[in-house]
Amino acid sequence: MAKIKVCVIFGGVSNEHEVSLMSAKSVIDNIPTDKYDVVKVGITKKGRWLFFPGSTDEIISGAWHEHPDNVPCLISPDRATKGLIKMDGTNITIEKIDVVLPVMHGKNGEDGTLQGLLEMSGIPYCGCGVTASRLCMDKMHANMTFDQAGIPRCKWDYMMDYEMDNFDAIARRVEEKLGYPIFVKPANSGSSVGVSKAADRRQLKDAVSAALAHDNKVIFEEFVSGHEVECAVFGNPPELIASEVGEIGASAAFYDYEDKYFSGTSKTYIPAHLDEETRNKIREIAKKAFTVMDCKGLSRVDFFVKEDGTILLNEINTLPGFTKISMYPRLMQHSGMSYPQLIDGIITLALEGAVDER
Ligand SMILES: Nc1ncnc2c1ncn2[C@@H]1O[C@H](COP(=O)(O)OP(=O)(O)O)[C@@H](O)[C@H]1O
Ligand SMILES: [Mg+2]
Repeated sequence: MAKIKVCVIFGGVSNEHEVSLMSAKSVIDNIPTDKYDVVKVGITKKGRWLFFPGSTDEIISGAWHEHPDNVPCLISPDRATKGLIKMDGTNITIEKIDVVLPVMHGKNGEDGTLQGLLEMSGIPYCGCGVTASRLCMDKMHANMTFDQAGIPRCKWDYMMDYEMDNFDAIARRVEEKLGYPIFVKPANSGSSVGVSKAADRRQLKDAVSAALAHDNKVIFEEFVSGHEVECAVFGNPPELIASEVGEIGASAAFYDYEDKYFSGTSKTYIPAHLDEETRNKIREIAKKAFTVMDCKGLSRVDFFVKEDGTILLNEINTLPGFTKISMYPRLMQHSGMSYPQLIDGIITLALEGAVDER
């Protein structure tokens, strides 16, 4: 049987570019090669698309974009092409692609933009479509949807950048609603970039400025203390697998960027330190939230559980970190799916979902 040609897209114009490189190396190194041929496309931080023929070590080192045999390329939005257009000087060639596997985190990859292009292209692609990607990326719209769907969340509020002149009035409203400490985040970011915890009005203002460096909308949340737990959901509704629940024991004040990817001091526990009934409730809410948000393929659903047992959803990551030690693949492994089986499963779901071309 002919092999299936998978185009892995990595990098991207995102403050999570480096995280994508780490995920991409693991994914490419573990795709079952008896079934799949891999075509690698990297997007530089400036947004150049390059067909990359080199090794995954060059991806992780960041040297990949200087490879002498890189060829500028693009995914054709024209459904007659269903592939990659490579532009080597004046020599233009088409490489047919069976399925795209985006391994990108954050803006311009996980947020529906890339998914929109792939939708136009008619090439099947892995993971969530435009709506779920967009909705889960924007914490304001995600929170509104969760509230509407009756999915439990902590108290929250938001402001726009153009409201900064009116900061004191907004701060009073937020303080009254949430009380200190207050968590402040950009509405569109990820990997904890731009997230901080404020203990008073002055810190709140600094936190808002820090968040506004990444987005034009800021989210405020009451501080939730308790367990930080995550559940991996896999499948296309209504057939979903919700994994065992895993827990993060952050080593920093909270689970920040350093802690997530570099310091290696945060601990994870599977299963989480919670009773079985609570873990099962979390798995049910994870599946409900996945379905409400129109997710497909995979997503990691993150929660807080307060000491009194209250379960609060934090966020859904439609393209969660995907290194071998990342929580999503580890949770799925706990459910009996090895890392290569998981990649195969995600690609298979994309091909199944693509049968009808509505
Ligand atoms: N309301 C909150 N209460 C306590 N800790 C929080 C709260 N919101 C976020 N955090 C901490 O900050 C981290 C990053 O916030 P999160 O909302 O998950 O943003 P990101 O999209 O950047 O991952 C979380 O993993 C958690 O450790
Ligand atoms: Mg998070």
